Amino acid sequence: MNAGTTGQKAAIICIIHLAITKCLFCDVYKHRLTLPAMGYKKLIRFAELNGFPNVLQFPGDMAGKWSSFFKNENPLTLELACGKGEYAVGLGQLHPDQNFLGVDLKGNRIWVGAKKALQQHLDNVGFLRTQIDQIASYFAANEVEAIWITFPDPQLRTSKAKKRLTHPKFLRLYQQFIIPGGLIHLKTDSPDLYEFTKLVIDLYGCTVHTDYDNVYAMDAIAADLMIKTHYESLDIAKSNRIHYLSFSLPVQLPGKEKDEELQQILKHEGMD
Ligand SMILES: C[S@@+](CC[C@H](N)C(=O)[O-])C[C@H]1O[C@@H](n2cnc3c(N)ncnc32)[C@H](O)[C@@H]1O
Repeated sequence: MNAGTTGQKAAIICIIHLAITKCLFCDVYKHRLTLPAMGYKKLIRFAELNGFPNVLQFPGDMAGKWSSFFKNENPLTLELACGKGEYAVGLGQLHPDQNFLGVDLKGNRIWVGAKKALQQHLDNVGFLRTQIDQIASYFAANEVEAIWITFPDPQLRTSKAKKRLTHPKFLRLYQQFIIPGGLIHLKTDSPDLYEFTKLVIDLYGCTVHTDYDNVYAMDAIAADLMIKTHYESLDIAKSNRIHYLSFSLPVQLPGKEKDEELQQILKHEGMD
C-alpha cells in the first residue's frame, strides 16, 4: 500500500468516525429533548445532592455521632417520611436551639428541603436518605428527643398494616433510640391511620399527650402544628380535616404476640 492510499484510507476512517460521532450526538440530543422534564430534573438533583453538606445518603456508622454532624449538643428531632422536608425546615426555623433531621428514601424530594435549608443558612437542619425500616441502626440509645411523622402513606389494606409508620413494628424501632417519654407526633389527613394509631396506642400501653380530631377547628394551635406539608395541601384522603396525635411509648412495649391480637382486631373491625 503506498502513502497516498494510506492517507485516503485514514481520511475515510476519519470522516466515518465524525459521522458516527455526530449521529450519536444527535441521537443523544434528540433523546434528551424527548425525555420527560422530571427525568432531567431528578438527575441534576441527584448529582447536586451528593455535594450537599447537610445531606447524608445511606451512611454507615452514624449512631451516636449526630452531635458531630450538627456541630453542637442540642436535642435532635426526626421528621420521618419527610418528603420535601417542610417540617424539618419549618421546625428548624421555629427552634434554632434544636436540631432537626428529615428522613426519606427519595433523594429528589429531600433535595427540596435540603436546598431550602442551605439557602436559609439553617445549620440546625439536616437530611438522612435511607429506608425507615433501617432507622434504628442510625441512632444510639437516647440520641433522639422527639419524632414527627408527617402525612405518611396510610397503607390502607390490612395486609399492609405492618408498613404503617405507627405500627408496633416501627414503634419498637423508635424505642431503641428515643429518650424515655419522648414524644411521637403524627399528623395525617387519613382517618383510617388516625384511628389505627389510636388503637395501637391503647393496645400497647402508650400515653396520649394530645389528640386533635380536627386540627384547624381548634381555637388556638401551636406554631409547630401550623406548618403545612406538600401532602397536606394535596388533601388526598378528602377527609376535610387534619388529625394530630402526640404520644409517648411505655417503658416496655408488649412483645410480638400482641401483634397477632392487633391483626385480629383489624380484621374483625374491618378498619381497612
Ligand atoms: C405521602 S409522602 C409524605 C411526604 C411529606 N411528609 C409530606 O407531607 O408532604 C410519604 C413519604 O414517605 C416516604 N417513605 C415511605 N415509606 C418509606 C420508607 N420505608 N423509608 C423511607 N421513606 C419512606 C416516601 O418516599 C414519601 O416521600
